[in-house]
Amino acid sequence: MLDLHNHMLPGLDDGPSSMEETLEMARLAYEDGVRTIVATPHGRDVAEKSSLSAVRALVDQLKGELRTRSVPLKVLLGMENHLEMDTPEQVERGLAIPIEGTHYILLELPFPSYPLYTEEVLFKLQIKGLHPIIVHPERNAPIQENPQVLAGLVQKGALAQLTASSITGAFGRDTQRVSRELLRRGLVHIIASDGHDARGNREPILSTGVAAAARVVGKEASLRMVVDIPQAILQDVKLDPEELARASGKKRWPLRR
Ligand SMILES: [Fe+2]
Repeated sequence: MLDLHNHMLPGLDDGPSSMEETLEMARLAYEDGVRTIVATPHGRDVAEKSSLSAVRALVDQLKGELRTRSVPLKVLLGMENHLEMDTPEQVERGLAIPIEGTHYILLELPFPSYPLYTEEVLFKLQIKGLHPIIVHPERNAPIQENPQVLAGLVQKGALAQLTASSITGAFGRDTQRVSRELLRRGLVHIIASDGHDARGNREPILSTGVAAAARVVGKEASLRMVVDIPQAILQDVKLDPEELARASGKKRWPLRR
């Protein structure tokens, strides 16, 4: 499996505070069957308290530690970028970055609201050749009230990433209910851990979420969200979110380059 959203780097955001804890997260993920993790610190924390060069140094340090321990876990760098009016300018200034080696960019909506500029920002990013991925839409209040809000973004070319522990119910029954509804409507393309910790409900674990999603969309479709689709994203293959939804449940799913 591949985990595209994970706060495993130490001392940057609300993730782990030490490299030891980071390595414990890596061990848990590996034992769960994860072989590639994209480390995605919060962009705002990096900009305010650190720097991209310091983050890259941490990734290199982590890779070295994993090599020393003979853990064959691949680590790539990404970022969880807040969706803000000036996100396109942040991209230009290197403050908001896509997933390493790709044109896919993780975007987080505020939890309580749906900014009026959301679609305009997505469009500006798409003009730059970037492919937006909306992270944990199940935790956004307006989408919880009306999943059609997310359907509108998917129609405009955005992919959506559900958090594994949302589907298992670790964030409460409401979030779990919405997660299932988004899966049922074919509005989810990726399952990621959004791991923050080596303990509790923010562990870097995917398998339990995949099992819970399989009860809604079937095992094959659920596995695609942690294997085939993340793999295509890391290969920078252009995906059509609506085609993926239509293909949900079929053995082969179409790609558009
Ligand atoms: Fe996150």
